[in-house]
Amino acid sequence: MIEKLREVLPPHRVSTAKEDLDNWGRDWTRSFAAAPSAVVFPETVQEVVAVTRLANAEGLALVPSGGRTGLSAGAVASQGEVVVSFDRMNRFLDFNETDRVVRCQAGVVTANVQAFARGKGLFYPVDFSSSGSSQIGGNVATNAGGIKVLRYGMTRDWIAGLKVVTGAGEVLELNRGLVKNATGYDLRHLFIGSEGTLGFVVEADLRLTEPPAPSRVMVLGVDRMADILSILTRFQAGVALSAFEFFSELAVERVTRHRSLARPLKSSSAFYALLEFDAHDEPAALAAFEESLAAGWVSDGVMSQSEAQARALWALREGITESIAPETPYKNDLAVRISDVPGFLDDVDHAVGRIYPDLEICWFGHIGDGNVHLNILKPPGLAVTAFYERCDAMSPELFKLVAARGGSISAEHGVGMLKREFLGFSRSAAEIEIMRAVKKALDPNGVMNPGKLLP
Ligand code: MLT
Ligand code: ZN
Repeated sequence: MIEKLREVLPPHRVSTAKEDLDNWGRDWTRSFAAAPSAVVFPETVQEVVAVTRLANAEGLALVPSGGRTGLSAGAVASQGEVVVSFDRMNRFLDFNETDRVVRCQAGVVTANVQAFARGKGLFYPVDFSSSGSSQIGGNVATNAGGIKVLRYGMTRDWIAGLKVVTGAGEVLELNRGLVKNATGYDLRHLFIGSEGTLGFVVEADLRLTEPPAPSRVMVLGVDRMADILSILTRFQAGVALSAFEFFSELAVERVTRHRSLARPLKSSSAFYALLEFDAHDEPAALAAFEESLAAGWVSDGVMSQSEAQARALWALREGITESIAPETPYKNDLAVRISDVPGFLDDVDHAVGRIYPDLEICWFGHIGDGNVHLNILKPPGLAVTAFYERCDAMSPELFKLVAARGGSISAEHGVGMLKREFLGFSRSAAEIEIMRAVKKALDPNGVMNPGKLLP
């Protein structure tokens, strides 16, 4: 098989070196051991087609690999698969100022798209903590969200076109950058969020927009989780928010220690809300803050006075994932409709003591768009496998609460292997059957990321 791969790609771009298998065979998920049989590094669409055709002919399983920042084991190769890394497909191909569309290869890093847009006096608004290493192909495959969804939506909203190689090895050029295109099923959207199970995204047309106005960041101390949505509603009445995030005291404790950051406020609160808004809304924001204080929803607050302070406040939120990584958290990435957030948090608050009686929970997330991250921290001394097994066994209790409100068990991290067996909590049996039929149509031999997403 390795010999055959070396016939379709230059031999030095097919690796079986142990350190390469370990590195490219996994994402940020730590619950599965990496065990690919090879890693390949195509540079062109034709090479991706050649690898895919070989996989069909020889019955190989392929796993796409981007920035490997995924949190659901969607890019983990644990069964002797061939990893297809997009690291060498990292070029910008075209930019059209009138369309405000940039075409890039799948391996371009998100932060480089943001920098490219800045260089053109424009803005690519999809942003998250892992922007420095995540790649566009992976963002498309998981329909990545992040910290600005409240104003700008998800990756899906910025994709004007896609070039994909299907599981059958066919190249499809989808939507071609059009704004309007009412010619039937929009196949582009099937690939967005498909987690590499239908084909490989090889190129993407990304929409860019005007840069935002200068902004301010506020961090508020909140004692009762139930008040967070009252604060959101009050601020939204007069302030154009670009972000509304939250995190718990435990998260602040971890991130300030890990990054040697200053605490945001003199006093500590059970929770904190982080808001970002346009600077010209500062008076309205201060009025909303005063009212929230008077209503008892907020105990204290701070507003950035400089770019550096804004960055320092954002660091409290963006550094959380890294700061709890040594505790190998079991990650839950839950979403309900925004209006359902208070009721849902109340359900979870009551259930947590029952579901996870002796475990520490680190809460944070994008509460303004209905997405909360509930991270269960592994106690020292407990083996990772035993811990994950235990959490998996408890997940149905939590997911029943999500399902009861029509929510999602994976808002933005994807399903991968981690949440695969729980898909039925968010998608009906009929939907899953249709997904299988779609997969069969685009990947008839099941070579594309088998074992991911579909139970
Ligand atoms: C975040 O919101 O920081 C990301 O989704 C990563 C995470 O949940 O750990
Ligand atoms: Zn998130």
